Parts: sequence; structure tokens; C-alpha cells
Amino acid sequence: MDTITGYLTNDHKRCDTLFIEAENYVNTNLWDRAAACFQQFYEALEQHFAMEEQVLFPTFETAIGSTDGPTSVMRVEHQQLRGIISMLKDGLARRDKNSFLGHSDTLNIMLQQHNLKEESILYLMTDRVLSAQKNDVVSAMKQIGSLV
Ligand SMILES: [Fe+2]
Ligand SMILES: [Fe+2]
Repeated sequence: MDTITGYLTNDHKRCDTLFIEAENYVNTNLWDRAAACFQQFYEALEQHFAMEEQVLFPTFETAIGSTDGPTSVMRVEHQQLRGIISMLKDGLARRDKNSFLGHSDTLNIMLQQHNLKEESILYLMTDRVLSAQKNDVVSAMKQIGSLV
């Protein structure tokens, strides 16, 4: 059975691949393809955030009896990332290459830092703290994933 760390780390890679593809299409001025790919990235990332915000974080917070830990920082970062993504969407709609690529640099840096914190700290903590419920948590995340 998957670990939480393994399952969500793979999902980070799925989102990254879609974003790189969208960025490549913008770089080569293939705007329709870029828009389709960006939409897939957006949906994948919102699905990923939903698995964390609706399943993983609350389960972990209940287990440790606190909402003030690393999950609160991750929730704030999700909001910041959503803000950058809306600027990217805007640049894409206007076919403004400079705007899109400028914001995409910011997104890349922030998203990689965010993912690294989760992969090297938070997910490992959740695998440890939720070891008895790990299979249930992964199943619940997969279910949410298919609904978003
Ligand atoms: Fe996250
Ligand atoms: Fe994540």
C-alpha cells in the first residue's frame, strides 16, 4: 500500500509535468495548446490541494490536537500559489508572453519550495503520526481526487 509521502510526491510530479508542458507551449507561441495544458495543470493542482486541505491536513490536525502546526503554513502558501495562478491565467488569456513567463518563474520557485517542505517534513510527519490510518487516508484522498 502507498505511503502518504509516496502518493503525494508522485502527484507533485504529475502537476509539475503539466506545468512544464504549458510553459513550453507558451515559449513556442502555441497558445491554444498552452491554454489546454494549463487548464489540465490547474485542475490537477486544485485536486492536489483539495486532497491536502480536505483530507490530509484535518486528519493530521485532529491527530496532533492542533491547527497551529505546519499545516497552517501550508494552507497560507496554497492561497499565495492560487494568487499567482490567477495572474498566469490572466496572462494566458491576453496571450501576454512576458507576463506569463514572469509569473511562471515566480510560481516555479514558490511551488518547488512548498513541495519540498511537504515532501521532506510534513508528509513524513503525517506518515509517522497517522501510521495506523495511513491506508484509509490515502483511500480518502484518492476518492476526493476523483470528485474534484
Ligand atoms: Fe500543499
Ligand atoms: Fe502537496
